[in-house]
Amino acid sequence: MKVTVVGAGAVGASCAEYIAMKDFAAEVVLVDIKEGFAEGKAMDLMQTASLNGFDTKITGTTGDYSKTAGSKVAVITSGIPRKPGMTREELIGINAGIVKEVTQNLVKHSPDVIIIVVSNPMDTMAYLVHKTSGLPKERIIGMGGALDSARFKYRLAEALESPISDVDGMVIAAHSDTGMLPLFSKATRNGVPVSEFLSDEQKANVIEETKIGGATLTKLLGTSAWYAPGAAVSVMVQSILCDQKKMIPCSLMLDGEYGESDICLGVPAIIGKDGVEKIVNITLTEEEKAKFAEAAKAVRDVNGDLKF
Ligand code: NAI
Repeated sequence: MKVTVVGAGAVGASCAEYIAMKDFAAEVVLVDIKEGFAEGKAMDLMQTASLNGFDTKITGTTGDYSKTAGSKVAVITSGIPRKPGMTREELIGINAGIVKEVTQNLVKHSPDVIIIVVSNPMDTMAYLVHKTSGLPKERIIGMGGALDSARFKYRLAEALESPISDVDGMVIAAHSDTGMLPLFSKATRNGVPVSEFLSDEQKANVIEETKIGGATLTKLLGTSAWYAPGAAVSVMVQSILCDQKKMIPCSLMLDGEYGESDICLGVPAIIGKDGVEKIVNITLTEEEKAKFAEAAKAVRDVNGDLKF
C-alpha cells in the first residue's frame, strides 16, 4: 500500500525512514514545495535500502500530487516548526494556509485517503482538515498523543529508574505546553500504579517535564524534534496499514465524547484499516475532567482564529 508524506523536512523524512525500516508499506511518496528537496531525500533514503534491508520504494516529488494518487494514508508535516521560545499556537498564520492547500491536493488524488495531521498547532490543524476536506471523521487523525505519551513514559522510567518497557502511561487532551494531560492516575509499572513508587514532588516533576518535552528539545536543538515525532507517526501508519487495531491517543473530532463536541482533542482510540475504529472512553478523575475541559477551551480559542 502507498503512503504519502507531505513535507520532506525533519519530521517528514524521519517518518518516511521509520516506515521504510519497518518494511510494511509498498511505497512512500515524499512531497515538498522546495525544488528537488523531496526527490533528494527519497534518493538518499533509497540508498539506505540495501544497507538496512528494506524493500519499501521511496520516491519524491516537488508538488506533483498525481504521484500520490491512490494513497491509503497521507501524513501532513508541511509547514514551519517552532523556534526556541515560541509556542505551537504561534505557527497558525502560516501553517493553516499550507495545511488547507495540501489537504485539497491530497483528497483530489486519493479520495479514500486517511489523513494523519502533524503540522502545528496540531489540534487546530486537524480541525481545519475536518472543516475543509469533506472526509468522514474516522479518516482524519491528529498526531500528538502518541508522541507525548512516549515522552511521558521516558520521564516516568527516568524517575522510577526502571526500564522503559516496564512502564505504561498515556497523555490526552491538547498537544500544547499547557493543555497536555499526562494521566498519572493510570500510569503503571508492570501493572502497579506508579504513585506507589513516586513522591508528590517526583510526580509533579514528571508531569511538568512531559508537558514541556517539546519545548525542552526546541531549546536544545534550535528547532523542534524529529526522531520521536517520526517514530510516533510510523506507529500510527503501521496500525492502519497492518490493521493492528492499536489503542493510541490521537487528536480526533469529538461528538459528545469526554463532554466535548466540534473540536479535535487527544483521546485514546482504536486505530485500524479504516482509520478510527472506536474512541475509547476511560474514566477520568474530577481533576482530570476539569483539566480536559480547560484544554478544550484553550484549543477552541485558537480554532477561533481560523478562516475557512
Ligand atoms: P521542517 O521545516 O524541517 O519541514 C517542513 C517542510 O515542509 C519543509 O521542507 C518545507 O519546504 C515543506 N513545506 C512547506 N510548505 C509546503 C507546501 N505547501 N507543500 C509541501 N511542502 C511544504 O519542519 P519539521 O521540523 O519537519 O516540522 C514540520 C511541522 O510538524 C511543524 O509545523 C512542526 O511544528 C510540526 N511538528 C508536530 C509535531 C506533533 O507532535 N504534532 C512534532 C514535531 C513537529
